[in-house]
Amino acid sequence: MSEPMREKLFVDCDPGHDDAIALAVAAHRGQLLGVTTVAGNVAVEQTTINALTVLQLLGSEVEVHSGAAVPLNGQPGQFASFVHGDNGLVGATMPELTRSVASDDAAGYLIEATGEHPGAWILAIGPMTNLALAVQRDPTLVDRIAGITMMGGGTYGNITAAAEFNISFDPEAADVVFRSGAKIVQCGLDLTHQLCVDDALVAASRATGTAFGEFCSGMLGGYLDNIRALTGSNTEAVLYDPCAALAVTDPELFDFAQRFVEVELTGALTRGMTLMDQRSWMSEGGPVQWAQTIDAVAATNLILDSIAAAP
Ligand code: RIB
Ligand code: CA
Repeated sequence: MSEPMREKLFVDCDPGHDDAIALAVAAHRGQLLGVTTVAGNVAVEQTTINALTVLQLLGSEVEVHSGAAVPLNGQPGQFASFVHGDNGLVGATMPELTRSVASDDAAGYLIEATGEHPGAWILAIGPMTNLALAVQRDPTLVDRIAGITMMGGGTYGNITAAAEFNISFDPEAADVVFRSGAKIVQCGLDLTHQLCVDDALVAASRATGTAFGEFCSGMLGGYLDNIRALTGSNTEAVLYDPCAALAVTDPELFDFAQRFVEVELTGALTRGMTLMDQRSWMSEGGPVQWAQTIDAVAATNLILDSIAAAP
């Protein structure tokens, strides 16, 4: 197993099964410095409980700061509990929570903490409301981070035909982030659909014999079962968020291209779409580092390595 680059990471998330795995990857393959939570898959109160639970099981003492309950426009978003269950982690056996949240000012924490730890990445794996609020309050934030590595967007959608869930939940926030001047690494659906959880990973998690391995086995098994029930097929379930973590901890697993990307805000059918310019004379040299391919076998091995590294 290659040695990780140990990039410094703040994680903004909405756990969510794939967020939970991304936290394990960030903790094992990077230097996890802090976590902020946002409404997305489920309400922010629950995504916060889920983040605290995963960090407790990882044995991580990093602070968790809760954040936005609604998108920038103030209109409540549509949660994805039909995918992740009412508590956001269907299938997981939730332990008694002994950890508590440090504050409810995620944006303020990101502004302060990125100053204390210059050169860190922000791993954005939920709706980007917290990031947008932080950038609006302090635009210089983008100058002291290495960049934002995000799971979001793509050339097609999942929550609509055009829009991916994280962008669709808060398009205005995504637009603020894309226009912020930050270095952006984008793992869209074109990339993340190359990495899935299957029955083998569920079994391998259980075979680690650790408490976290058992937690992940139940959690990932519940995710798979729910996706299979939703689709009516014996399909696999996409591991979206770990891709954005691995893109900075283990970039050698990826092929990237520089692309121009904008967020659609007003389209009747396309609101929340990330429009990547594919015209031949515009398709190179853009500011966004667009992840095109991932070595899914190596990535799965690193994910299992991250699960096994936890107590
Ligand atoms: O579209 C997938 C994204 O939406 C992932 O981040 C998943 O956790 C959900 O938040
Ligand atoms: Ca997520």
